Amino acid sequence: MKLPYAEPYKIKMVEKIHRSTQQQREKWIKEANYNLFNLRSEHVFIDLLTDSGTGAMSDVQWSEMMLGDESYAGATSFYKMKAAIKKIFNFDYFLPTHQGRAAENVLFSATVKAGDVVPGNSHFDTTKGHIEFRAAKAIDCTIDEAFNTTVLHPFKGNLDLQKLEAVLEEYPKEKIPMIIVTITCNSSGGQPVSIQNMRDVKALAEKYEIPVFYDSARFAENAYFIKLRESEFKDFTIKEIVLEMFKYSDGMTMSSKKDAIVNMGGFIAMHNKELYKEASMFNIIFEGYVTYGGMSGRDMNALAQGLDEATEFDYLEARVGQVQYLGEKCKKYGIPLQQPIGGHAIFIDAKRFLPQIPKEEYIAQTVAVELYIVGGIRGVEIGTILADRDPDTRENRYPELELVRLAIPRRTYTNNHMDYVAAVMKTIFNTRHEAKKGLRIVEEAPIMRHFTVKLEKL
Ligand code: F0G
Repeated sequence: MKLPYAEPYKIKMVEKIHRSTQQQREKWIKEANYNLFNLRSEHVFIDLLTDSGTGAMSDVQWSEMMLGDESYAGATSFYKMKAAIKKIFNFDYFLPTHQGRAAENVLFSATVKAGDVVPGNSHFDTTKGHIEFRAAKAIDCTIDEAFNTTVLHPFKGNLDLQKLEAVLEEYPKEKIPMIIVTITCNSSGGQPVSIQNMRDVKALAEKYEIPVFYDSARFAENAYFIKLRESEFKDFTIKEIVLEMFKYSDGMTMSSKKDAIVNMGGFIAMHNKELYKEASMFNIIFEGYVTYGGMSGRDMNALAQGLDEATEFDYLEARVGQVQYLGEKCKKYGIPLQQPIGGHAIFIDAKRFLPQIPKEEYIAQTVAVELYIVGGIRGVEIGTILADRDPDTRENRYPELELVRLAIPRRTYTNNHMDYVAAVMKTIFNTRHEAKKGLRIVEEAPIMRHFTVKLEKL
């Protein structure tokens, strides 16, 4: 008999979370203007808003915190992080930053200019934001399968090589500072990219002399899927797979709040010394001196240790296993999800959940609000509110998919919590026909409205 996975750790410290009544939650969410970002965290029972910076550090990471060297320049913590980045990714040059979007800001300051185009696989919002902020354009080259939630494709994060080559053909290389491959692809549902695709992208990039950068927030989860789904690598260790993945990139940006299992931190790493020098200047302006870049020494220590722990098979089996566990349970209840289930989150297909609600009434937000009211669960809308308005016409942009993401923090909740989440979902799903109306926006910011938008129930 094949034995099931079990978490390769036990719990040494716990944090109280707060139950509440449905009546209380109805009041709180109304006061929060039906925007889940406006809730106080103690009014949330199970917080699945994000897996970013919300994981539990290990005892070894906490002891590394005590060894942090807070010297302004040349701290031992910097060298610990440097050694970890060399060992895990094989990059010689790196710059610490305070988080992932800061890494994007520094790297793009050195590389992206007005009128440029940056092809990739469904760039993450902050990545796209930093590109558009520079009056450049992010061009989505994700495979079409990613946009149909029912298609079972093992690597829905893959880039479509024809779409990519069309961009490389159309624009001169001076206008394409880089190709960005996001691993795993958060925006398409935490979906992995195969090594074959990484090899093919790199081959095309070399043909057109364009560098390839990985947005690597969930690189370890991507490696785990490769081990399971790409037969060439089934006998490789996760660390060997990671080294193979990064062979086909020229550099990376990292939000360490995900697969380095720290609460705060990020970095840029690369092979090219000239680029490192140029980016260093921006790092000093925006983040801090090159040997700390917005991070405390203790955080750099914990990050170095976290990279090692996150690239262990047993850890990933339990981590991704828990996400799959929740997804499978929801599927059994008939709840429509993005499939296959992603690495860090499940994505509820809200259009299939509430087909009677028109898109003008914010379908995914309606489901997310219901999840909170019924169960005290906080997810996040990935739909029309997030998609914002068209900058020229000011009309709502209606994305193909209306999703509610439930992101699972690392090593934080037990499978009992997952059972609870699935049961809440089933309760809502069973009464879904009773929902007649969605929500209406009463106030919104001109950009990035999802954080502050105020809504009311119709
Ligand atoms: N790239 C990806 C793929 C991300 O998912 C994120 C953050 C970033 C870059 C930016 O990193 O937050 O450290 O500045 N994603 C979080 C999320 C916020 O909830 O998915 P950051």
